[in-house]
Amino acid sequence: MECKIRKLTGEDLEKIYSIAQEVLKPLWSKKEYEYFLSQPSSFCWGVDDSEGLACFILTLLTGTEVDVVSIATRKDAQGKRWARNLLQNVLSLPGIEQAFLEVDPTNEPAVRLYLGTGFQVQGIRKKYYEGKKDAWLMKWIR
Ligand SMILES: CC(C)(COP(=O)(O)OP(=O)(O)OC[C@H]1O[C@@H](n2cnc3c(N)ncnc32)[C@H](O)[C@@H]1OP(=O)(O)O)[C@@H](O)C(=O)NCCC(=O)NCCS
Repeated sequence: MECKIRKLTGEDLEKIYSIAQEVLKPLWSKKEYEYFLSQPSSFCWGVDDSEGLACFILTLLTGTEVDVVSIATRKDAQGKRWARNLLQNVLSLPGIEQAFLEVDPTNEPAVRLYLGTGFQVQGIRKKYYEGKKDAWLMKWIR
């Protein structure tokens, strides 16, 4: 299917939150998404399919660096390369030299996505998730 990437704004909050509720854990509150979307350094993109928003990526862009804050695909739309397309699109933005993210090492689809797009494990953030589970810190360099 053709992948038409579009910039997301506060107007997409409900659609973003609906995907987040379905697949993300821990889940931010809707207010936290609203706040994030209103920040000048936050940039979000998404892809639509026939059912509406299929996948979104939330990032912080500062100079030459991207912080991947969240990426999620509607359950029934997973495995169709939407997330990979969105992530690669962000990494190919002009001027971007490096990117960082945290991931739960037991989250197989996410780890595969990141390793497959060239991220490498940089270290471990202890008790990163809800003060309990460790995260991998991953880094991508152009
Ligand atoms: C991680 C996630 C965003 C990937 O979205 P997607 O649109 O399905 O991603 P893609 O189709 O581009 O596939 C990415 C990789 O995940 C793998 N994958 C997809 N679904 C999978 C599944 N159910 N089990 C195992 N691997 C899976 C794909 O095979 C691919 O790896 P490969 O290239 O080595 O084959 C999606 O699984 C999701 O929304 N998960 C819940 C939210 C989440 O965990 N976000 C990341 C937080 S750090």
